Amino acid sequence: MEWFGENPPTAVVTGGASGIGRAVCELLSKEGYRVAVADRDKAGAEEVAHHIDGHAFEVDVADEASVVALFEGALAVFGGTLDALATPAGIADTTPFMDLTVDTFRRVNDVNVIGTFLCIREAAKHMRSGGRICTVASVAGKRGGGLSGTAAYAASKGAVLALSRSAARALAPQGIAVNCVAPGATITPMLDKAFNDPEHKKRVEAMSLLGRSGEPREIAEAIAWLLSPRSSFVAGETLTVDGGLMLD
Ligand SMILES: NC(=O)c1ccc[n+]([C@@H]2O[C@H](COP(=O)([O-])OP(=O)(O)OC[C@H]3O[C@@H](n4cnc5c(N)ncnc54)[C@H](O)[C@@H]3O)[C@@H](O)[C@H]2O)c1
Repeated sequence: MEWFGENPPTAVVTGGASGIGRAVCELLSKEGYRVAVADRDKAGAEEVAHHIDGHAFEVDVADEASVVALFEGALAVFGGTLDALATPAGIADTTPFMDLTVDTFRRVNDVNVIGTFLCIREAAKHMRSGGRICTVASVAGKRGGGLSGTAAYAASKGAVLALSRSAARALAPQGIAVNCVAPGATITPMLDKAFNDPEHKKRVEAMSLLGRSGEPREIAEAIAWLLSPRSSFVAGETLTVDGGLMLD
């Protein structure tokens, strides 16, 4: 499939070893992209890269030098062009509010917020006009948690919503579009622990119009659309993909 020109488009996907990130790697690969699968889980990234004939990169998105090295490495492999970036890498936290330590709050925000910021900044250094970026927030960032995540997680995802809009403003003059997907409950390893409690799972799923959790592929579809020129008039937007949960 020809998206951007004569050569196959290129994409960096963080968190590509698991869950939503893995589904994004698989879908982009199917659509003809050359994909850099980036994750702190090196073996997981290698497994996905092998499966889709992509390229694996070990990265800690919270570490500036590591993110700089990721984009230099990916650009070297891609021959100097980067068309798309998706940033699903993230961590959750369910510590009750009054037990939350500053260390935990910082770690969650280092990965989810600083990590997203660093990836956008480094990607934008290498993108030409027409480049597209999709970040990953959460309905927790809109609701203040209340599903499975608590304060540190909700605050970090609220920050991703604002960061994405800010980046959209900053990068529009370069012709780079930044949008965001805010998933609702999605069946991935991140939710395993919380959803081990059947009552909790039932309560969360009953909150959405569709009465169920999402599949990683359903989130990936939205991300792939926002990364493609099919969404060419969408800029600075947050697409909530939650089976109708945010309606209430
Ligand atoms: N699953 C859900 O219900 C849900 C809902 C809303 C938002 N989200 C968001 O979607 C994104 C993907 O989550 P998922 O459910 O696929 O989780 P997941 O745990 O299956 O995948 C997350 C991936 O990110 C990687 N990662 C974590 N910290 C990293 C770091 N510092 N550097 C590089 N990679 C790192 C992990 O190794 C893992 O492969 C996250 O940002 C999450 O907050 C998930």
